[in-house]
Amino acid sequence: MRTDTAPAVRLADYAPTAYAIPTVALDVRLAETGTLVTATIAFTRRDGTPAGAELVLDGDELDLVSAALDGAPLAPDAFTASADRFVLKAPPAGPFALTLTTRLDPATNTKLMGLYRSSGTWCTQCEAEGFRRITYFLDRPDVLSVYTVRMEADRTAAPVLLANGNPVEAGDAGDGRHFAVWHDPWPKPAYLFALVAGDLAVLKDEFVTCSGRRVELGVYVEHGNVARVGYAMDALKRSMRWDEEAFGREYDLDVFNVVAVGDFNMGAMENKGLNIFNDKYVLADPDVATDADYAGIEAVIAHEYFHNWTGNRITCRDWFQLCLKEGLTVFRDQEFSSDMRSRPVKRIADVRTLRSHQFPEDGGPLAHPVRPETYKEINNFYTATVYEKGAEVIRMLKTLIGDEAFRRGMDLYFERHDGDAATIEDFLACFAEAADEDLDAFARWYRQAGTPTVDVAEHYDAAARTYTLTLRQTVPPTPGQPDKLPHVIPVRFGLVGPNGGDMAHAGVSGAEVRGDVIVLTQPRHTVVFEGVAERPVPSLFRGFSAPVKPNVGLSLSDLTFLMRHDGDAFNRWQASSTLAMTMLVAGAHAARRGGVPRADAAYVDALGEIVGDDRLDPAFRALMLAVPGENDVARELGDDVDPDAVAASHRALRVAIGTRLKPVLSTILAAEDPAAPFAPDAAGAGRRALVNAAGDLLAATGEAAALDRLAARFSAATNMTDRLAALTSLVHRDAPQADAALAAFVERFGGVPLAVDKWLAVQATAPLGRTLDRVAALTAHPAFSFRNPNRTRALVGSFATLNPTQFARRDGAGFDFVADVVRRLDDSNPQVAARILVAFRSWRSYEPERRARAEAALRRIAAKRPLSRDVADIVERTLA
Ligand code: ARG
Ligand code: ZN
Repeated sequence: MRTDTAPAVRLADYAPTAYAIPTVALDVRLAETGTLVTATIAFTRRDGTPAGAELVLDGDELDLVSAALDGAPLAPDAFTASADRFVLKAPPAGPFALTLTTRLDPATNTKLMGLYRSSGTWCTQCEAEGFRRITYFLDRPDVLSVYTVRMEADRTAAPVLLANGNPVEAGDAGDGRHFAVWHDPWPKPAYLFALVAGDLAVLKDEFVTCSGRRVELGVYVEHGNVARVGYAMDALKRSMRWDEEAFGREYDLDVFNVVAVGDFNMGAMENKGLNIFNDKYVLADPDVATDADYAGIEAVIAHEYFHNWTGNRITCRDWFQLCLKEGLTVFRDQEFSSDMRSRPVKRIADVRTLRSHQFPEDGGPLAHPVRPETYKEINNFYTATVYEKGAEVIRMLKTLIGDEAFRRGMDLYFERHDGDAATIEDFLACFAEAADEDLDAFARWYRQAGTPTVDVAEHYDAAARTYTLTLRQTVPPTPGQPDKLPHVIPVRFGLVGPNGGDMAHAGVSGAEVRGDVIVLTQPRHTVVFEGVAERPVPSLFRGFSAPVKPNVGLSLSDLTFLMRHDGDAFNRWQASSTLAMTMLVAGAHAARRGGVPRADAAYVDALGEIVGDDRLDPAFRALMLAVPGENDVARELGDDVDPDAVAASHRALRVAIGTRLKPVLSTILAAEDPAAPFAPDAAGAGRRALVNAAGDLLAATGEAAALDRLAARFSAATNMTDRLAALTSLVHRDAPQADAALAAFVERFGGVPLAVDKWLAVQATAPLGRTLDRVAALTAHPAFSFRNPNRTRALVGSFATLNPTQFARRDGAGFDFVADVVRRLDDSNPQVAARILVAFRSWRSYEPERRARAEAALRRIAAKRPLSRDVADIVERTLA
């Protein structure tokens, strides 16, 4: 297969199908070898389709056993069938049913799309185009059908039989086999189909909805894991309640099941009534899960549950509209987590993720709009841009029209489009109507790629008592989009006065101002505030009110002032980050010239005051201590990047902080109560984050006493958060105690796959010259397997994305290793291969030597034959 010529799919070419599928009956006979699927698919001709127009169904690696039309076998000349297509040449004019039997071999399905096996459990993944690997179908989201599924399997191998919807019947099938029938009354596209069959343990519970309906809840896991599902179940019930309260959305089936599997290409999947999860987002107990894992479980459980309305009841017309469900559902899960935890802390964490994942995407060769207009492989568009920037766009919409109009718009959307396969235009029209506002210019956020820059200049006129801000936006060119129109940008602001409070003003001109939000619509605005008593320090983009790169050019003293006094917690953190970034960039330049990076003492002292302030949330103080990462610095540098110089600068700043703040950091460590019971809530997580950040900064200084203390913390740890934090600090600092700690860890947790992932990742992300050899050796470790996406991502994915100096070794060995892995995975699991390959996206920003090495590695990937469409698409765009 030579796929670099794969045709592009275009939004502009959208047309509905010629036929609709009102109902589907599936009969699935699961067996060790040769699973048989018989699909009885009812078709009706859509208005406008001429009678007899041929019917073309999608397939992917299918093997057709038999085909019948309205119960009678089809004559061989009435159809054609290949692995990827079934054509019925002259369908009847009236409604008809095709009965197609396909033979599958789930055990050898290493792509983990369609029906496959995960440690003996049969399970499915159909989004985006996996259903066509089960049967021939109109496998696209605008074809909605009511499904009835009969499944049958050996009773011992698979006592549990689950599918979408409600259970209707179950019983004996003879020969040691049994069956179950499930019916889903809600019409859905094929990508939401799911079934699971296996020998699983379950935790059951129930939820009573706001209208008093009882819903039976089940979380299914492998035997031995049932003690680890309590938190996920609790998160599910909280999500169900929250969606009722925050969005008025009630659940709509008698059962809701979640199944956790060990082999899964992505995070989780919102199949109607039967969510299937990567077990990483279900299983947790304090001994194996970190606070971050708990927060991830809470967020992903909520995300998939929220899809029941934003995704399932209202789905997407086509895959270009993916952000219609994903951006909106990410926004909803972010709001849920904010309500469950600390809003500012959650916001800072989300913005950090956006900057580290989405900004580099938007600024590199893979940049695409939130709603792309063309794709070759849809799986490559489940991106940070569609998800996270998509959520930012919704957040801006809410900021612009206000909370009440936003809620009215959501209500209208649910009311008007329930049961539809909708578009972004449909969605925006609801808000335009609810807010009585023209959103045409705002809609550019969906069409234009690239992160806008907003340059700000200020002027205070003491005599006139006016304060002037000049704001200039630029939207950079991106692949296929050389010229851009200005965006509608909400700038939430405060004018901070000398006492730290926001100053009043007597009026403003030059831009529309709604409350504390300046609305930019033009390339340039001169905003004049009247009656301003003295020069304020501007606090702009509070709460990160728009996904842009502001360039305010504040002095070090203004930034330290905001760090101490801004009424907006996000901007306190932002001021600190901006200061740190200035030093990190200067330090990287210095290191490149063989000089020494220097830290600003006033900044470190301000940091020390905040970090030592017990009145502040420990989670917030921990975030203040986390200076921008090496990849963030590299992105800020933009080109001619030498990752070793960046790392030297990063290390130097951390050593400077650790050294100067030793007293306050030591106090934080000493104040820890080792007997405090573990609770995975925001308060406990915040306290642990602060203590561990303090321990890590002290260890950065390399002082023997600090390392000893870490080694002791590692041994004494009673939860995975503290244990992993100590282990990471020891290993990354190359402490003498590191190898013993690694050995102790794997001795104890070698049998727990999710803990093994942490052990692999700690080693893969160590910024040490021997790391690559270790990583290569670990691919042969018995606990590692390239067949498992979590193991592969933990070892190779984290090496490629989180170890900038070793992935980008000057000799090119890091690039070559990852390229070899991509080539190898391309044959077994192209989706995972393509994901890992994305680590190369910033290759053009390296200094010339590394750039040449990276390009050579990319060309070696591009030259592989056969090459999957997934990898071909990414490598072509990366090299373009
Ligand atoms: N819809 C799923 C989720 O957000 C993710 C599916 C990812 N699919 C894919 N082909 N990458 O939650
Ligand atoms: Zn989603």
